Amino acid sequence: MRYRTLKGLQDILPPDISVWQHIESTAGNIFRTYGYQEIRLPIMESTDIFIRSIGETSDIVEKEMYTFQDKGGRSVTLRPEGTASFVRAYVQHHLYNNPAPQKFYYSGPMFRYERPQAYRYRQFYQIGAEAMGIEDPKLDAEIISMLGRLLHSIGLEGLNFQITSIGCKKCRPDYREALKQFLKDKLENFCSDCQRRYDLNPMRILDCKVPGCIESRKGSPPLIDYLCDECEVHFDGLKKNLSKLHVSHTINPNLVRGLDYYTKTAFEVTSDNLGSQSAVAAGGRYDSMVDEFGGPPTPGIGFALGMERIIPLIKESLNITEGPEIFLCPIGEKAAEKALVLTEQLRSEGLWAEMNFDGTSLRSQMRKANKIAAKRVVVIGDDELEKNKAVMKNMVEKEEVAIGLDVSEFIKTIQNSDVNTHN
Ligand code: HAM
Repeated sequence: MRYRTLKGLQDILPPDISVWQHIESTAGNIFRTYGYQEIRLPIMESTDIFIRSIGETSDIVEKEMYTFQDKGGRSVTLRPEGTASFVRAYVQHHLYNNPAPQKFYYSGPMFRYERPQAYRYRQFYQIGAEAMGIEDPKLDAEIISMLGRLLHSIGLEGLNFQITSIGCKKCRPDYREALKQFLKDKLENFCSDCQRRYDLNPMRILDCKVPGCIESRKGSPPLIDYLCDECEVHFDGLKKNLSKLHVSHTINPNLVRGLDYYTKTAFEVTSDNLGSQSAVAAGGRYDSMVDEFGGPPTPGIGFALGMERIIPLIKESLNITEGPEIFLCPIGEKAAEKALVLTEQLRSEGLWAEMNFDGTSLRSQMRKANKIAAKRVVVIGDDELEKNKAVMKNMVEKEEVAIGLDVSEFIKTIQNSDVNTHN
C-alpha cells in the first residue's frame, strides 16, 4: 500500500461515526440544560500560549508538542489540549464581561507526540467544557455532576470519580519544600528529567511515567496535607456538595495532573476496562490562568473527555445500525427511470431513500438491501409499471403491503408502519 495514516493517527469511518455522533449529540443536549454554549477554536496557536499555561517542565511541553515554524518564521503549535486556547479566546474577546458563570464547550482534535498504544493516539478528540468567573465550590460540584450525567447518558458504566485538591500559590511553597526534603536523598534513583525538575518544578516529578521514578517516589507526602485554610475550606465545600448531588467519588491524594495550570480542585474519571490508559475524562480548577494571560483575575474550572477512550467502551452495547428508510429495486431501464424520480421525490419529503443502479438480478438486489440494512424494499418491474402498483416489503417486520407507484402512497405507508412499530 502506497500511503497510510501517520503513526498514532486514525481515520474514523462509518459505522463507527454513528457512535461518535451519538456522543456528540448527547453531550450537546446535556450542555444545553446546564447553559454551556459552543465555542470553536483554532487548532493552532502561538507556541508561547501552551508553554506559559501547561508549564515549561511538563511532559506535554518538553516532549509532546507538534511545534513548527510557519512561513513567516513564527513558532506555532498544534493544540495539545483545549483549555489554553479557550482562555486565550476568553481574554481576547473580553468574554468575562458577560454575567458569571460564563459557560462554554468545545470539541475537536488535539495533538500530542506520545508513544502510541491502545487508547493513546497522537491525534485524539476531546469534548471539553469550561465554566468561568465563580470561585464557589458549588460550581465545581455542578460541573463534576454534569460530567457524570453526560458519561452516564452516553452509556458508560463502572466509572470511578477521583478528586483531590492541589492547593494554590499560597500553599504550594511549603509543599514544594516538604517534597524536596523527601526526594533529596533519593535523587540519584530518578531519571535525568526528574533530576532537572527537582530545582525547577519538583511537583512534576510526581507525574513522571518512568517505572524507576514511580517506585522511588513512593511514600512522598501528599499535597492534600499541606493545604492552606482557603484551599481546605474549598475542598470541604466540594466534598459536601458532591455528596448533596449524589456524585459518588473517592479522594485520591496521589492524583497528579500533567498540566501546571491547576489550582485547588483536580479530578479524573477512570474506567476499570481500559488498562493503563484508564482516564476517560479529567479536569480541574485554574484560578490564575486568565490573570496570567492578561485578563482580569477570574477563576475557572473545566474538564475534557477523550473520545477514543469512550468509544470502545460503549460501541458493542449501542448497536447503531443505520440504513435507508426505503430501497427501490428496479428491473429494466424503464423501471430504473421511474425509481430515479421516486427516490428523488421521497428525499424531498425528508426520507432517506436509495435505488439500485446496477440492473442485477432480483436476488442480488435483495441481498444488497439486507447488506445496507434497508428498512423497506419495493421491487419495480414491467408488471408493476403497467398496473402502477407494487408491494412494499418491510424488512424489519417482515410484512408486505400493496401500494400504488406514487410518492404520497409510499409516504403514507411508511408513516403508518412507523406508528405501528413505535406502539
Ligand atoms: P488531560 O487530562 O490532558 O486534560 O486530557 C483529558 C482527557 O483526554 C484524558 O482523560 C483522556 O481521556 C484524553 N486523552 C489525553 N491524551 C490522550 C491521548 N494521547 N490519546 C487519547 N486520549 C487522550 C486536558 O486536556 C485538560 N485541558 C482538561 C481540562 C479542561 N482541564 C480544565 N479544563
